[in-house]
Amino acid sequence: MKNIQSLHKVLIVDDEEVICDTFSRLLNYAGYTCQVAQNGKEALGMLEQQEFSLLLSDINMPVMSGLDLLRTAVEKHGDLAVLMISGVDDRDVAINCLEMGAYGYIIKPVQMNELVINVANALHRRELEIINKRYNQQLQKLVEARTEELNLAREETIMTLGKAAEFRDNETAQHTIRMSHYCQMLARQCGLPESQCEQIRLASPLHDIGKIGISDTILLKPGKLTDEEFVIIQQHPEIGYRILVDAKSESLRLGATIAYTHHEKFDGSGYPRKMKGTAIPIEGRIAAISDVFDALTTNRVYKSAIEVDKAVEILKQGRGSHFDPDLLDIFLQNMETILRIKEQCADHSE
Ligand SMILES: [Fe+2]
Ligand SMILES: [Fe+2]
Repeated sequence: MKNIQSLHKVLIVDDEEVICDTFSRLLNYAGYTCQVAQNGKEALGMLEQQEFSLLLSDINMPVMSGLDLLRTAVEKHGDLAVLMISGVDDRDVAINCLEMGAYGYIIKPVQMNELVINVANALHRRELEIINKRYNQQLQKLVEARTEELNLAREETIMTLGKAAEFRDNETAQHTIRMSHYCQMLARQCGLPESQCEQIRLASPLHDIGKIGISDTILLKPGKLTDEEFVIIQQHPEIGYRILVDAKSESLRLGATIAYTHHEKFDGSGYPRKMKGTAIPIEGRIAAISDVFDALTTNRVYKSAIEVDKAVEILKQGRGSHFDPDLLDIFLQNMETILRIKEQCADHSE
């Protein structure tokens, strides 16, 4: 049966052949499997070819210094233990080696016991570090999986809330999905940071959440709304804002902003606060374009979808009055992507 030491391969690097032979014999005697290299370059080549547990290297060598070998070996072979050996008892060099990742620094001449103890200690420490590293990797994976689950749950909750509000208004479930993708695409094309674009995608389905607070008789009224009824409908942005504004979650708070501002118009003629121009948060300006485009181009219970060209014309008529002109230009420049989203997220009945 093999002993535990023989499972570890040791690479000995020294330009003096006699030292390589001596160390090799001593470590063989202690049960380790050894190979030798005459310089750092040769050693690096061998490390690429085979798996070693430990590198035992001289410091002063031709071709490549032991310190350069140490640096590259530690960088390329994370699980390798390295012990440095030197004829010079130099405290600064020793500290430097340890800081660069060496497990130890041995001064020549080396006693057999000293060498074997240092090698055994280094291998023991290496084993603990490998166990620790694997444990941390597993932990990291677990945290990532849990985070993904949480994100998914959060996204589903937001989407479901958004859908619930849209259903009350006879909108289709796909409206919130399409609209949120239009919003994300537009945010990206505006050059907003990716994390903000993702937040906009997550939060925009909540734009009409305030419709939960509007009575069915008004919301589902088939004919034209009276002035009073229209005033009540116009309360949905503020109701939505109040539902969401105190949330701890960033996505829900952004949902509050979008709900509050998605009916504002660039020229100040929108509602509920008649905000104007860039005083309207960019997320609200983005949502306004995406929401109207989707409402125009898809079937609703009360109206059929209109052609994309016609919808583009209508959007253009609102350039600078209803919509932020710069954002609208960007939206229209990306019609290919818009149409792809429209197709991918089409209503099931279409
Ligand atoms: Fe709305
Ligand atoms: Fe909507």
